[in-house]
Amino acid sequence: MRDYWNKRFAEEGMIWGCEPSQTVTQAIDLFKKNNAHHILVPGAGYGRNTKMFSSYFEVDGIEISSSAINLAKEWDLKTNFIQESVLEFRTSKRYDGIYCYDLLHLFLLEDRKKLIQNCVMHLKEQGVMYFTCFSDRDFNNGVGRNVEEGTYEYKKGKYAHFFTEENLIEHFNDLNILEMGSIRECLTHTEKQQEYELRYVVVQNIGELLRGSNSTDTSTRLTAASNRRTISPKALGHREYRSLYVIGSEGNKKMRMQDKPIVSVIGLGLFSLSLVVHICFKSIRTMDDVGMGILLSLVNAIFLVFPLL
Ligand SMILES: C[S@@+](CC[C@H](N)C(=O)[O-])C[C@H]1O[C@@H](n2cnc3c(N)ncnc32)[C@H](O)[C@@H]1O
Repeated sequence: MRDYWNKRFAEEGMIWGCEPSQTVTQAIDLFKKNNAHHILVPGAGYGRNTKMFSSYFEVDGIEISSSAINLAKEWDLKTNFIQESVLEFRTSKRYDGIYCYDLLHLFLLEDRKKLIQNCVMHLKEQGVMYFTCFSDRDFNNGVGRNVEEGTYEYKKGKYAHFFTEENLIEHFNDLNILEMGSIRECLTHTEKQQEYELRYVVVQNIGELLRGSNSTDTSTRLTAASNRRTISPKALGHREYRSLYVIGSEGNKKMRMQDKPIVSVIGLGLFSLSLVVHICFKSIRTMDDVGMGILLSLVNAIFLVFPLL
């Protein structure tokens, strides 16, 4: 892996131009909301993304390629670049946020697990991570030799894992998934422009103790995934961001909050309907007015009081 990337950066320089990924804006908002100060960027490359982060936070970037680091040190003067493999990286520091762009899919399953575990180990409790990776909807999925399930050698000597939504959830099963979705990212290569289908996932470290009780299985999480909504494109440029869903106890709370206006409207509708029915019954006098009144008031009370709980 090191030789491949050294050769590429030495020959092609700033391969994807100097613009950061559009996801950086979203990650900065997330980190700010989480009061983050220290950010880790594994697979930092030549620093096109770290440069944005380092205007707001204290950033450490880990990168295996020395030629990428040489470029990075000139491009982003504020980030502290460390030349090491993300699989071996160890420090006593604990970070508030981790941003990992298009690195995860470069590994086979065992090393993907190792990468995530190592990131979690360096993340503070309640800290958040933002990961992007290739999607199964990418045009290269299924191209070339099948190395492992979902992993293809789509270029000679270079393989990648193409994530389905379920697969991505499985990888982050021990963490609280706050949000995930798809994006189409257009990268300018030295020679041409290329569009990629990516997936992203935002997770929070719920800590060792809670992790054991986080029993939400993949199927439950996939059910939650059907609660899709479009994220405001304001901060996200023109790209497509989809599929926000929140799970875990915090998530359930948020969903209830969202449901409240609907329940109130239903309550109000039923209230009006019951009034009409009550007046009709009263006029034709086929039922005991007092009994009917009590019954309808009870129904109304349930629907009107429920949203306030
Ligand atoms: C697809 S590039 C993305 C670079 C950067 N995130 C960006 O968007 O500009 C993957 C990067 O991960 C680095 N990398 C690959 N394997 C690594 C490892 N084991 N440890 C640290 N960095 C690694 C590569 O050298 C390369 O810079």
